[in-house]
Amino acid sequence: MNKIIYINNKIKSFKKKIEVTGDKSLSIRWAIMASLAIGKSKGYNLLRSEDVLNTLGCLKKLGIKINLKNDYCEIFGKGLDGYSYKNNLTLDAGNSGTAARLITATLVKAKKTVKITGDASLKRRDMNRIITPLKKFGATFKENKKGNLPIFIKGSGSLNSINYEELKGSAQCKSAVMLAAMQAKGTTKLKCKPSRDHTELLYKYLKIPIKVKKTKEFDYIEVTGQKQFKSFSYKIPGDISSASFLLVLTILTENSELIIKNINANPTRTGIISILNLMGAKIILLNKKRYKGEIIADIFVKTAIKLTPINCPSKFNSAAIDEMLLIFLIAAKANGVSYFKDLSELNQKESPRLEWGSKILNMMGIKTKLTGQSIKIYGNPYLEIKKVIKIKKYLKDHRVFMMSTIAALSCGGKWEIHDSDSIKTSFPSFLQIIKGIKN
Ligand code: S3P
Repeated sequence: MNKIIYINNKIKSFKKKIEVTGDKSLSIRWAIMASLAIGKSKGYNLLRSEDVLNTLGCLKKLGIKINLKNDYCEIFGKGLDGYSYKNNLTLDAGNSGTAARLITATLVKAKKTVKITGDASLKRRDMNRIITPLKKFGATFKENKKGNLPIFIKGSGSLNSINYEELKGSAQCKSAVMLAAMQAKGTTKLKCKPSRDHTELLYKYLKIPIKVKKTKEFDYIEVTGQKQFKSFSYKIPGDISSASFLLVLTILTENSELIIKNINANPTRTGIISILNLMGAKIILLNKKRYKGEIIADIFVKTAIKLTPINCPSKFNSAAIDEMLLIFLIAAKANGVSYFKDLSELNQKESPRLEWGSKILNMMGIKTKLTGQSIKIYGNPYLEIKKVIKIKKYLKDHRVFMMSTIAALSCGGKWEIHDSDSIKTSFPSFLQIIKGIKN
């Protein structure tokens, strides 16, 4: 059912301290790694969103016992060879690219053919980017030319290690290859454009043989396969991608302050903080500590008095890829023209987000110049929206919904935003938290 929300008023100034739900990337990775470990793992503060629940659903279909309790989740891993394969097994990843790509990679040894599918948005997305390297390991696939879901994978009993170059800055591609490498004989060598490094940090923590050398341009990673590892507990920190919606709301709202507690502030995820601080925002990390290789911090943010435009260096793109719509919104309120480039990957997300970012800003009365991989945004610090704006038919992309809500609450106008259930993908308590900030 299409649920619509209507927003007719800007939010009033606020000063609050909040928490957001667990990190999606880490929740999915914890579940997958726990399913491949030996013994009972416990995950605390696991994100209870559809992407994560679909991940758990796929793992259960692979014969893994999972108990989702009130305040933790238990996964009974059976080691690297522990999955069982029923005839005609279908795994449905729903809306989650991470689940589809990472779980497919765990199946490089599958003894029977497994079908992977997903929802309408996920069926548009490219799986060839992981099919190509997984074939090199020795898995066989049945797929269409475009590599769209559904695809079929059958594993191999004798996997080769491979050499692999990842040039998109995609952590899903890198992690898929690392998950296959963990099961193959020998050492797989990866040369990757930098991207979120949660998988590397988990491998190190779990003592899975890995070497990582970071240079300015590339990360060189070596994974040696076939080492079993023990179950582990994990307390998942808050999701910076979810927190970012509230950071931007605070920056754009007069006389406001917000502290968001216990956020995963891994530097491969904090591109939005670097970019927005360069544009005149004041976002500060407090109480930084290390947790199993990750950096956890509280985030302080307040209203920005003056926002300056940016010619955004593309080195920030990967670490800010899920926050780009919000960064465009800040650019819309900056005093001049901002430019964001090398962003073709943004059109490969749950919706073509580079196009949607431009479309929404245009509806708000902001001029943009768009190519397939870049956008120029002609900011207007005095922007006050007076008209009616309707956001619909956007493939239910959760981040389009949430960015539109933040735009409505911070820039005015009369908004009708469709498909509010899209937030269930990554941040089911989003509207609830906004309500709490309002009161
Ligand atoms: C993710 C990686 C990113 C990101 C996605 C989550 C991950 O995708 O957009 O939301 O958990 O590895 P790509 O690897 O395709 O860039």
